Amino acid sequence: MKNIYQPIKAEVVNITDESSNIKTFTLKPSEKFSFVTGQFIEFSLNGIGESPFTPSSSPYKTETIDVTIMRAGYVTEKIHQLKKGDIVGIRGPYGKGYPIEEMVDKEVLILGGGVGMAPLRSFLLTLVKQIDKFKKVTLCYGSKSPEDIIYKSEFEDWKKIKKLDILRSVDKCPEGVWKESVGVVTCLLDKVKVDLKNSVAIVCGPPIMMKFGTKKLLEVGFSPKNIYLSMEKNMSCGLGKCGHCQLGPYFVCKDGPVFLYDKIKDLEELWD
Ligand SMILES: Cc1cc2nc3c(=O)[nH]c(=O)nc-3n(C[C@H](O)[C@H](O)[C@H](O)COP(=O)(O)OP(=O)(O)OC[C@H]3O[C@@H](n4cnc5c(N)ncnc54)[C@H](O)[C@@H]3O)c2cc1C
Ligand code: FES
Repeated sequence: MKNIYQPIKAEVVNITDESSNIKTFTLKPSEKFSFVTGQFIEFSLNGIGESPFTPSSSPYKTETIDVTIMRAGYVTEKIHQLKKGDIVGIRGPYGKGYPIEEMVDKEVLILGGGVGMAPLRSFLLTLVKQIDKFKKVTLCYGSKSPEDIIYKSEFEDWKKIKKLDILRSVDKCPEGVWKESVGVVTCLLDKVKVDLKNSVAIVCGPPIMMKFGTKKLLEVGFSPKNIYLSMEKNMSCGLGKCGHCQLGPYFVCKDGPVFLYDKIKDLEELWD
């Protein structure tokens, strides 16, 4: 019988330093591996442990997958020590991704913070591939400082894409260094013009940013039925079996990680 927890092997074929504590690992799976943008994988190191991450590459790129990982504790510290040619384990993909078809003919507003840009890069690349299907795409991205911005060189390419507007802010920086916005990412929402009747918003970032980002979207007039959140809960099995990731009546690994805000807005532990 097949062991559902058995990872497949994947070779680390490239490593990109994104910031002082974030790296992107390009993995070449030993078997065919595909995912829907927004789904996650379990990434394991033999004898160390495993952690969930959302692929940051386009699902249309099938030979390799990127995962962008912030150093946060034991497993991620060990992942950051990987070298090109090392072999890791991956299993998945798990959960439900972004419902792209529901966004067709609409304006899509993406709100991201910090390493939350990882799943959003995959999502953005998916939209860009079929950009004519959407009225407009706006990306609002915030990071602590200019040095903490990830995918720096890619932003320059994204700025040239038609129907895609990009606004960025940093929490703080010395005067004269940064020509874009300064302040928490939600301040960008005051500058964005959207057709509220025909728009969806996608939010991913640290819990505090998700909370205040959602609050601000509601304030500017978004309906809870048009806001999608990428929720993170501590996970173990990733398969809806252990209960570690419970959020009210839902298992984030199985029913999410992408949730319509309307579905979870009344849960007491939503922002815990
Ligand atoms: C569906 C999903 C997708 C994710 N995608 C990404 C991603 O693309 N890039 C990325 O850098 N991180 C992502 N994370 C968070 C990542 O899984 C954790 O940072 C990682 O598990 C920490 O492991 P650790 O052993 O290094 O840290 P630990 O020593 O276990 O913990 C360090 C800190 O990380 C927190 N943490 C531990 N496990 C999780 C977890 N499962 N979810 C959230 N926080 C956790 C702990 O509460 C603690 O504050 C994702 C988490 C989930 C649930
Ligand atoms: S991680 Fe085990 S049920 Fe979700």
